[in-house]
Amino acid sequence: MPQTHETWRQRLGLIPADHYYREDILSAEIERVFARSWLCVGFVQDLAQPNDFLTFQVGPHSIVVQNCEGVLRAFRNVCSHRFARIQCTRSGNRPLTCPYHGWTYDAAGRPAGIPLNRQNFEFNDADKDALALKAYALETVGHFVFVRMNAEGPDLKTFLGSFYDDLAHVSEACPDRFEHEVLDWSVNWKLGMDNAAEGYHLPMVHSGSFSLILSTDLTLSTDAGHSRYTGKLRDRSRKWWDNVARAIELERGDLYPEYASFLIFPNIIVTFSYGAFLTFQTFEPTGTDSLRLTTTGWLGKNNGRAARDMVADSLRGFTKQVRDEDRDICQVTQAGMRDAPPERPPLLGAMEDRIAEFQRTYMRLMTPTPPAERDMP
Ligand code: FES
Ligand SMILES: [Fe+2]
Repeated sequence: MPQTHETWRQRLGLIPADHYYREDILSAEIERVFARSWLCVGFVQDLAQPNDFLTFQVGPHSIVVQNCEGVLRAFRNVCSHRFARIQCTRSGNRPLTCPYHGWTYDAAGRPAGIPLNRQNFEFNDADKDALALKAYALETVGHFVFVRMNAEGPDLKTFLGSFYDDLAHVSEACPDRFEHEVLDWSVNWKLGMDNAAEGYHLPMVHSGSFSLILSTDLTLSTDAGHSRYTGKLRDRSRKWWDNVARAIELERGDLYPEYASFLIFPNIIVTFSYGAFLTFQTFEPTGTDSLRLTTTGWLGKNNGRAARDMVADSLRGFTKQVRDEDRDICQVTQAGMRDAPPERPPLLGAMEDRIAEFQRTYMRLMTPTPPAERDMP
């Protein structure tokens, strides 16, 4: 059947260009997308000791995750007294004590210790209960600590669907973290996700690096609004890994022996190669045109000898090169996005089908149900 001259319209995505820089859109995303979703805020290894903490930014909101005598808790990082931030660094080890007047919070978020309470406030236990920090839902799977800001919602397992078991598997298969970087890009968070979601750009942007690793023939599967690519490593890459495996006695997981990549909505990208090399990335929005990328690299169990450090060095060099190439092309695209027709979504080919899936999930959450539809029987 002859195609109409409007065929190109069928390849339009759903998210208009202006959603990549508008302030009001970012505010709506924080409330409708991020507050409702389980977000990975960090790693259990970094919260193992009492008083270990980390903070995580969701737009204007700061979340503190604190090890309270062995139990992980998540709170709004705002003191109940006069609203100072309580933990002021990205991570560390210190009690949940406000730096301003020294109010100290317990595992329930109650200000259990108030300096000079008798002279100054005379707060009793009921007052302290009422002044507890706002708590958020927290669950872990494998290495990963997840928080949900909204009080109501599905548990983590329901939210992740089959990716729950995938995250447990890759954690088990890759216990050896060799890289942990936090980077700021001048890019809208969705652009970071779009770029990580597709392999179409590999030959152009990563001609010297990534295109040697991966076959472009990927199989897509989706579940619970998230998506998964599975595919084969190129022979050259498989041989490199076989040599590494011999040299450092690398153990491999059996579920994804070649290559898998998970896009976990809204902002996680996982890649898993050879059943023994994991990268885990989160894209936090820090402004309309800025994101914070947290990226970690993990290896399968190995003998821990000197060769392991050489392998880790070479993987760090490789992931840094790929990341820098991605940052540069994303920043170029962010500039173009601001100059594009505001209402027009991007064009998405078959090799960008994972972006289309991301955009469907996004629009479902971002579009409020019209009152007329809500009232229908
Ligand atoms: S603002 Fe936190 S103790 Fe005063
Ligand atoms: Fe890339």
